Amino acid sequence: MLYRFLVLLAALCLVACEQVINRGPVGGATIELTRLRDGALIYTGTTSTVASVVEAQGESAWASYSDAVRLQRLGRRALPATLPVEAQAWYLLTARGGSDYDPDGDGLLDNETGEPVQGTIRALLRGSQLGATAVAISPLTETAYLFVADFVGELTDDELAITLDEVAADLVADANNSGAVDYQDLLYSNRLLFTDATLRLRSAGLSALAFAIEAGTPEEGLQVLVRGVTSRNAPRLVAEARYASEIHQPIIRTRCESCHLEGGLGARASNNVVVRDTDPDYAARNTENFRQLVFSFGAEGVLERARGIGHGGGALISPSDPEYDDFEAWLNLL
Ligand code: HEC
Repeated sequence: MLYRFLVLLAALCLVACEQVINRGPVGGATIELTRLRDGALIYTGTTSTVASVVEAQGESAWASYSDAVRLQRLGRRALPATLPVEAQAWYLLTARGGSDYDPDGDGLLDNETGEPVQGTIRALLRGSQLGATAVAISPLTETAYLFVADFVGELTDDELAITLDEVAADLVADANNSGAVDYQDLLYSNRLLFTDATLRLRSAGLSALAFAIEAGTPEEGLQVLVRGVTSRNAPRLVAEARYASEIHQPIIRTRCESCHLEGGLGARASNNVVVRDTDPDYAARNTENFRQLVFSFGAEGVLERARGIGHGGGALISPSDPEYDDFEAWLNLL
């Protein structure tokens, strides 16, 4: 029974498998599926176009479809019968080029050639998420990808999953009504199935990203847009791990604890309160403490105080100290 259901799914793939959507569906995009950890190429293909759908389903079927149904069938990845994927492993799906059939996002098939998309749209997917119905490879998945891209090597597979759930909580609502907001909601936040109002996308900045992708904006420019819509500059787990390995001992414990532990001179006179490393959550708590300080004063404002500018505690570190650059880099992750 289950087996027959799976065969049916594969046969109906033009309806069921992932869809590349920038403003509207992107047909004729080159799809590349690689294994995240070693970059091994698993699969290449292209997304469905008007020509390929007409060929597969027939002229008369196409003619009978409404615009909404036509858009549903475009920009789909053709699913091969079997893919050598592991359910728990992470994969990167990259869609390059192609053309957007609804660049003004009004739900109508504006013309049958579409507007060229210059950039790439990527999505991180677990093996178990490949081929799932309603998954959209979109500016949302590109945002999540760009947010973690520089830090993937510092995260385990499970930490990557936690990080993507946290990014999703910044960006989308509970699209699949599971009672919690997680990465699955981000994958299901499909502009063709839901209106922007029902999706309750957290940020209008995502439209800017869609236009930037269409225009082929270089990655540094996209990164700036991404940091504008996420509440952190780097994954929380990366910031906490670097706190424990690079920041706690040489900086906080050695230079700040004497005044900024609870009850200390600095802690009593300000919001900068740190905890000792005997606390099992010290890395998380101290990282969050500094995240709040960066939120109030900016990374440079925190550094200035540590250098003794406008700081009751005087100068504790100088740019010539070897740890200064690490401290600055870490503050900029928050
Ligand atoms: C000798 C005591 C002392 C030490 C050591 C010290 N501070 Fe302070 N710090 C203070 C005092 C007192 C204040 C409150 C007055 C003020 O804002 O300058 C303060 C305030 C701050 C504030 C402002 C927080 C707020 O909510 O207004 C920051 C940021 C800060 N310290 C960072 C640091 C850092 C980083 C270190 C270690 C590199 C450090 N301090 C070490 C005494 C100290």
